[in-house]
Amino acid sequence: MKKRTFPIWHRFLDGTPSYLARHYWWAYLWRPAIWFFDHQPVINAILFNQYNRLLKQTLSCLEQRPKGRVLQLTCVYGKLTPSLLSQLGSESLTLVDVATAQLEATRDKLSTEDKHRLKLLRMNAEQLMFADNSFATVLIFFLFHEMPHAARQRALSETLRIMQDGSRLVITEYGPLPKNHWLYRISLTRWITTYLEPFLDDFWHEDLLSNLKQKAQQLNKEIKLVETHDIFSGFYRVSVFELSTIKTKA
Ligand SMILES: C[S@@+](CC[C@H](N)C(=O)[O-])C[C@H]1O[C@@H](n2cnc3c(N)ncnc32)[C@H](O)[C@@H]1O
Repeated sequence: MKKRTFPIWHRFLDGTPSYLARHYWWAYLWRPAIWFFDHQPVINAILFNQYNRLLKQTLSCLEQRPKGRVLQLTCVYGKLTPSLLSQLGSESLTLVDVATAQLEATRDKLSTEDKHRLKLLRMNAEQLMFADNSFATVLIFFLFHEMPHAARQRALSETLRIMQDGSRLVITEYGPLPKNHWLYRISLTRWITTYLEPFLDDFWHEDLLSNLKQKAQQLNKEIKLVETHDIFSGFYRVSVFELSTIKTKA
């Protein structure tokens, strides 16, 4: 009998969402790739030399934050997590990712003291195992454009559900559809970007703020955009939102 062969990405379906195994195994799940990508020159090249600006702006948006628990939703390559921990001083940080290899790689980057302040949890962002209103600050760095539409909608709703009254959400991501940016105008660079990032085009066509507002309303919450910082002529954007709970009269 002929032996059935499976595509390589099936090997990475170890409790990870199928879109992640299928489209990003080579970037986030394969251990040699994790080693390779987690080098500053590689990260810089992927982000068109904008990494330091993105990092600096993201950290600066987290300086003024409400008192309470801080969540970083998913791991990222580079020095974001160590830098955030150092900014948090003696406070602890919760870090969630669906890939064990990513959580381990992040832990390996930290000093012993930082390891004690980092709570690592394996979870799918589409279904967070936290109670409603658990966090005062949530940071999400380049996650949403990597999710298919339906998964992104679930992750957005879950994020708002676990955020408490007066909390702050910082999203570092691609900006809105960059029609006038040279990277978009040149067909080759547009093709490469959207080939490597198969869900980016959908993300570009989504209005993040109105989507967040609609989802917040369903949870009896209100969200407002309080800061935006365009980077690389708006190709990337750091956005800060504030969330409040709608008080109902007794
Ligand atoms: C934040 S994104 C990419 C960040 C950016 N490209 C970088 O590293 O600088 C990649 C991470 O998201 C995680 N991830 C993707 N989908 C997820 C999901 N549904 N739930 C939790 N983690 C997820 C991946 O395992 C990976 O560690």
